[in-house]
Amino acid sequence: MSLKILYEGKSKRVYVKNEDELVMEFKDDVTAMDGAIKASASGKGVLAARMSAYFFKVLEDNGIETHYIDYDGTRNITVKRLSIVPIEVIVRNYAYGSLLKRMPLYKSLQKLDPPLIEFHYKDDSLHDPLILPEDILNVGLLSRNELDYIVETTLRVNKVLDNIFSSKGLRFVDLKLEFGRDKNGRLIVADEISGDTFRVLDENGNHLDKEIFRKTKDVNIMVKAYIELCKRLGIEVKDVVSS
Ligand SMILES: Nc1ncnc2c1ncn2[C@@H]1O[C@H](COP(=O)(O)OP(=O)(O)OP(=O)(O)O)[C@@H](O)[C@H]1O
Ligand SMILES: [Mg+2]
Repeated sequence: MSLKILYEGKSKRVYVKNEDELVMEFKDDVTAMDGAIKASASGKGVLAARMSAYFFKVLEDNGIETHYIDYDGTRNITVKRLSIVPIEVIVRNYAYGSLLKRMPLYKSLQKLDPPLIEFHYKDDSLHDPLILPEDILNVGLLSRNELDYIVETTLRVNKVLDNIFSSKGLRFVDLKLEFGRDKNGRLIVADEISGDTFRVLDENGNHLDKEIFRKTKDVNIMVKAYIELCKRLGIEVKDVVSS
Protein backbone atom coordinates (compact mmCIF):
# COMPACT_ATOMS: atom_id res chain seq x y z
CA MET A 1 0.00 0.00 0.00
CA SER A 2 1.31 3.49 -0.86
CA LEU A 3 -0.04 5.10 2.33
CA LYS A 4 2.22 5.81 5.30
CA ILE A 5 2.06 3.05 7.89
CA LEU A 6 1.15 4.22 11.38
CA TYR A 7 1.17 0.97 13.31
CA GLU A 8 1.59 -2.73 12.74
CA GLY A 9 -0.15 -4.98 15.23
CA LYS A 10 -0.65 -8.73 15.45
CA SER A 11 -3.68 -8.87 13.17
CA LYS A 12 -3.80 -5.53 11.35
CA ARG A 13 -1.67 -2.83 9.75
CA VAL A 14 -2.94 0.71 10.18
CA TYR A 15 -2.21 3.37 7.51
CA VAL A 16 -2.80 7.12 7.43
CA LYS A 17 -5.24 8.04 4.66
CA ASN A 18 -5.51 11.71 5.62
CA GLU A 19 -5.65 13.83 8.75
CA ASP A 20 -8.96 12.35 9.88
CA GLU A 21 -9.00 8.90 8.31
CA LEU A 22 -7.06 5.66 8.62
CA VAL A 23 -7.08 2.44 6.62
CA MET A 24 -7.02 -0.80 8.63
CA GLU A 25 -5.52 -3.66 6.63
CA PHE A 26 -6.50 -7.05 8.03
CA LYS A 27 -3.59 -9.47 7.80
CA ASP A 28 -3.88 -13.22 7.16
CA ASP A 29 -1.98 -13.83 10.41
CA VAL A 30 -3.48 -15.44 13.48
CA THR A 31 -1.89 -15.51 16.90
CA ALA A 32 -2.97 -17.13 20.15
CA MET A 33 -1.63 -17.65 23.67
CA ASP A 34 -0.16 -14.13 23.89
CA GLY A 35 1.53 -14.54 20.52
CA ALA A 36 3.17 -17.87 21.37
CA ILE A 37 1.28 -19.65 18.57
CA LYS A 38 1.35 -18.03 15.14
CA ALA A 39 -0.05 -19.05 11.77
CA SER A 40 -1.27 -17.54 8.53
CA ALA A 41 -3.93 -18.54 6.00
CA SER A 42 -5.17 -16.86 2.87
CA GLY A 43 -8.73 -15.66 3.28
CA LYS A 44 -8.42 -14.94 6.99
CA GLY A 45 -7.82 -11.19 6.59
CA VAL A 46 -10.60 -10.55 4.13
CA LEU A 47 -13.07 -12.58 6.24
CA ALA A 48 -12.26 -10.61 9.41
CA ALA A 49 -12.53 -7.32 7.46
CA ARG A 50 -15.86 -8.33 5.94
CA MET A 51 -17.32 -9.39 9.30
CA SER A 52 -16.13 -6.16 10.92
CA ALA A 53 -17.60 -3.99 8.16
CA TYR A 54 -20.87 -5.94 8.42
CA PHE A 55 -21.15 -5.50 12.20
CA PHE A 56 -20.10 -1.85 12.16
CA LYS A 57 -22.82 -1.12 9.58
CA VAL A 58 -25.41 -2.95 11.67
CA LEU A 59 -24.38 -0.94 14.75
CA GLU A 60 -24.59 2.34 12.81
CA ASP A 61 -28.08 1.32 11.62
CA ASN A 62 -28.95 0.87 15.28
CA GLY A 63 -27.77 4.37 16.15
CA ILE A 64 -24.46 3.34 17.72
CA GLU A 65 -21.52 5.46 16.61
CA THR A 66 -18.54 3.48 15.26
CA HIS A 67 -15.31 4.44 13.50
CA TYR A 68 -16.51 2.79 10.26
CA ILE A 69 -16.39 4.97 7.14
CA ASP A 70 -16.12 2.76 4.07
CA TYR A 71 -15.49 -0.79 2.93
CA ASP A 72 -14.72 -1.90 -0.62
CA GLY A 73 -14.88 -5.69 -0.20
CA THR A 74 -11.10 -6.15 0.19
CA ARG A 75 -9.06 -6.67 3.37
CA ASN A 76 -9.07 -2.90 4.00
CA ILE A 77 -11.58 -0.82 5.94
CA THR A 78 -11.46 2.99 6.05
CA VAL A 79 -12.12 4.29 9.55
CA LYS A 80 -12.10 7.53 11.53
CA ARG A 81 -8.76 8.29 13.12
CA LEU A 82 -9.19 8.12 16.89
CA SER A 83 -7.12 8.25 20.00
CA ILE A 84 -7.64 4.75 21.40
CA VAL A 85 -8.49 4.44 25.09
CA PRO A 86 -6.06 1.75 26.33
CA ILE A 87 -8.82 -0.41 27.78
CA GLU A 88 -10.33 -3.60 26.43
CA VAL A 89 -13.98 -3.86 27.36
CA ILE A 90 -15.22 -7.44 27.52
CA VAL A 91 -18.88 -8.33 27.76
CA ARG A 92 -19.75 -11.90 28.67
CA ASN A 93 -23.09 -13.66 28.19
CA TYR A 94 -21.75 -17.08 29.16
CA ALA A 95 -18.76 -17.92 31.36
CA TYR A 96 -15.79 -18.99 29.27
CA GLY A 97 -12.08 -18.50 28.67
CA SER A 98 -10.09 -16.40 31.13
CA LEU A 99 -13.16 -15.93 33.36
CA LEU A 100 -13.12 -19.66 34.22
CA LYS A 101 -9.45 -19.36 35.22
CA ARG A 102 -10.00 -16.22 37.26
CA MET A 103 -13.10 -17.58 39.04
CA PRO A 104 -13.10 -21.38 38.91
CA LEU A 105 -16.50 -21.70 40.62
CA TYR A 106 -18.19 -20.79 37.35
CA LYS A 107 -19.33 -23.73 35.26
CA SER A 108 -18.15 -23.58 31.66
CA LEU A 109 -20.79 -21.78 29.57
CA GLN A 110 -22.85 -20.90 32.65
CA LYS A 111 -25.33 -18.17 31.64
CA LEU A 112 -24.45 -14.69 32.91
CA ASP A 113 -27.59 -12.64 33.29
CA PRO A 114 -27.19 -9.69 33.34
CA PRO A 115 -24.12 -9.87 31.09
CA LEU A 116 -20.82 -9.40 32.91
CA ILE A 117 -18.60 -6.50 31.90
CA GLU A 118 -14.84 -6.62 32.48
CA PHE A 119 -12.12 -4.08 31.83
CA HIS A 120 -8.55 -4.94 30.92
CA TYR A 121 -5.67 -2.50 30.64
CA LYS A 122 -4.20 -2.74 27.12
CA ASP A 123 -0.56 -3.61 27.75
CA ASP A 124 0.85 -6.70 26.05
CA SER A 125 3.93 -6.77 28.31
CA LEU A 126 1.59 -7.10 31.33
CA HIS A 127 -0.73 -9.50 29.44
CA ASP A 128 -3.64 -7.02 29.42
CA PRO A 129 -4.44 -7.29 33.16
CA LEU A 130 -7.96 -7.10 34.58
CA ILE A 131 -8.64 -3.70 36.16
CA LEU A 132 -11.50 -2.28 38.24
CA PRO A 133 -13.77 0.59 37.16
CA GLU A 134 -12.35 2.47 40.17
CA ASP A 135 -8.81 2.05 38.79
CA ILE A 136 -9.96 3.61 35.52
CA LEU A 137 -11.43 6.61 37.36
CA ASN A 138 -8.60 6.95 39.87
CA VAL A 139 -5.90 7.17 37.20
CA GLY A 140 -8.04 9.38 34.98
CA LEU A 141 -8.29 7.07 31.95
CA LEU A 142 -12.01 7.96 31.73
CA SER A 143 -14.36 10.34 33.51
CA ARG A 144 -17.37 8.95 35.38
CA ASN A 145 -19.66 10.00 32.51
CA GLU A 146 -17.38 8.41 29.93
CA LEU A 147 -17.21 5.16 31.88
CA ASP A 148 -21.01 5.13 32.17
CA TYR A 149 -21.29 5.80 28.44
CA ILE A 150 -18.89 2.94 27.62
CA VAL A 151 -20.81 0.49 29.83
CA GLU A 152 -24.15 1.55 28.36
CA THR A 153 -22.83 1.40 24.77
CA THR A 154 -21.18 -1.99 25.33
CA LEU A 155 -24.49 -3.40 26.58
CA ARG A 156 -26.28 -1.95 23.54
CA VAL A 157 -23.72 -3.46 21.16
CA ASN A 158 -24.07 -6.76 23.00
CA LYS A 159 -27.86 -6.68 22.58
CA VAL A 160 -27.66 -5.91 18.85
CA LEU A 161 -25.19 -8.74 18.22
CA ASP A 162 -27.12 -11.12 20.46
CA ASN A 163 -30.29 -10.52 18.43
CA ILE A 164 -28.44 -11.23 15.19
CA PHE A 165 -26.70 -14.38 16.43
CA SER A 166 -29.86 -15.73 18.12
CA SER A 167 -31.83 -15.25 14.91
CA LYS A 168 -29.25 -17.46 13.13
CA GLY A 169 -29.45 -20.18 15.79
CA LEU A 170 -26.07 -19.25 17.28
CA ARG A 171 -25.04 -18.81 20.90
CA PHE A 172 -23.23 -15.52 21.57
CA VAL A 173 -20.67 -16.17 24.34
CA ASP A 174 -18.59 -13.00 24.66
CA LEU A 175 -17.13 -9.99 22.89
CA LYS A 176 -14.18 -7.59 23.23
CA LEU A 177 -14.61 -3.94 22.30
CA GLU A 178 -12.22 -1.00 22.04
CA PHE A 179 -13.22 2.66 22.15
CA GLY A 180 -11.44 5.75 20.91
CA ARG A 181 -11.91 9.51 21.15
CA ASP A 182 -12.35 11.68 18.06
CA LYS A 183 -10.96 15.24 17.89
CA ASN A 184 -14.02 16.53 19.72
CA GLY A 185 -13.45 14.05 22.53
CA ARG A 186 -16.44 11.90 21.61
CA LEU A 187 -16.13 8.21 22.44
CA ILE A 188 -16.64 5.91 19.46
CA VAL A 189 -16.60 2.12 19.02
CA ALA A 190 -13.30 1.27 17.28
CA ASP A 191 -10.98 -1.56 16.22
CA GLU A 192 -12.68 -4.71 14.89
CA ILE A 193 -15.67 -6.96 15.49
CA SER A 194 -14.98 -10.40 14.07
CA GLY A 195 -14.40 -14.01 15.01
CA ASP A 196 -11.08 -12.76 16.42
CA THR A 197 -12.89 -10.61 18.99
CA PHE A 198 -16.10 -12.52 19.83
CA ARG A 199 -17.00 -16.12 20.60
CA VAL A 200 -20.05 -17.73 19.04
CA LEU A 201 -21.20 -21.36 19.08
CA ASP A 202 -23.34 -23.29 16.61
CA GLU A 203 -26.15 -25.71 17.55
CA ASN A 204 -23.62 -28.47 18.22
CA GLY A 205 -21.42 -26.32 20.44
CA ASN A 206 -18.78 -25.84 17.72
CA HIS A 207 -16.87 -22.58 17.81
CA LEU A 208 -17.30 -20.36 14.74
CA ASP A 209 -14.55 -18.07 16.09
CA LYS A 210 -10.83 -17.98 16.87
CA GLU A 211 -11.24 -20.39 19.80
CA ILE A 212 -11.14 -23.17 17.22
CA PHE A 213 -7.56 -22.10 16.40
CA ARG A 214 -6.61 -22.03 20.08
CA LYS A 215 -7.97 -25.56 20.38
CA THR A 216 -6.79 -27.17 17.11
CA LYS A 217 -3.84 -24.89 16.20
CA ASP A 218 -5.09 -25.42 12.64
CA VAL A 219 -5.65 -22.13 10.87
CA ASN A 220 -7.43 -23.74 7.90
CA ILE A 221 -10.11 -25.20 10.16
CA MET A 222 -10.56 -21.68 11.58
CA VAL A 223 -10.93 -20.15 8.11
CA LYS A 224 -13.60 -22.75 7.29
CA ALA A 225 -15.44 -21.81 10.50
CA TYR A 226 -15.23 -18.09 9.58
CA ILE A 227 -16.66 -18.90 6.12
CA GLU A 228 -19.52 -20.84 7.74
CA LEU A 229 -20.24 -17.96 10.10
CA CYS A 230 -20.24 -15.43 7.22
CA LYS A 231 -22.64 -17.61 5.23
CA ARG A 232 -25.00 -17.75 8.20
CA LEU A 233 -24.87 -13.97 8.51
CA GLY A 234 -25.49 -13.51 4.79
CA ILE A 235 -22.00 -12.06 4.17
CA GLU A 236 -20.65 -12.73 0.66
CA VAL A 237 -17.77 -15.27 0.71
CA LYS A 238 -17.93 -16.90 -2.75
CA ASP A 239 -14.62 -15.26 -3.70
CA VAL A 240 -12.83 -16.54 -0.57
CA VAL A 241 -11.15 -19.89 -1.13
CA SER A 242 -10.09 -21.99 1.83
CA SER A 243 -7.43 -24.69 1.60
N1 LIG B 1 -10.05 4.15 14.69
C1 LIG B 1 -8.83 3.90 15.17
N2 LIG B 1 -7.91 4.90 15.31
C2 LIG B 1 -6.66 4.65 15.79
N3 LIG B 1 -6.23 3.43 16.17
C3 LIG B 1 -7.09 2.38 16.05
C4 LIG B 1 -8.43 2.57 15.56
N4 LIG B 1 -9.06 1.36 15.59
C5 LIG B 1 -8.17 0.48 16.08
N5 LIG B 1 -6.99 1.07 16.36
C6 LIG B 1 -5.75 0.43 16.89
O1 LIG B 1 -5.06 -0.13 15.79
C7 LIG B 1 -4.35 -1.30 16.18
C8 LIG B 1 -4.81 -2.45 15.33
O2 LIG B 1 -3.86 -3.43 15.24
P1 LIG B 1 -3.99 -4.87 15.93
O3 LIG B 1 -5.39 -5.15 16.32
O4 LIG B 1 -3.31 -5.81 15.00
O5 LIG B 1 -3.13 -4.61 17.25
P2 LIG B 1 -2.73 -5.66 18.36
O6 LIG B 1 -1.59 -6.49 17.94
O7 LIG B 1 -3.98 -6.35 18.80
O8 LIG B 1 -2.15 -4.74 19.48
P3 LIG B 1 -2.80 -3.73 20.45
O9 LIG B 1 -4.30 -3.84 20.24
O10 LIG B 1 -2.36 -4.23 21.79
O11 LIG B 1 -2.24 -2.40 20.10
C9 LIG B 1 -4.68 -1.52 17.65
O12 LIG B 1 -3.65 -0.96 18.44
C10 LIG B 1 -5.98 -0.73 17.83
O13 LIG B 1 -6.16 -0.28 19.16
MG1 LIG C 1 -5.96 -5.96 18.28
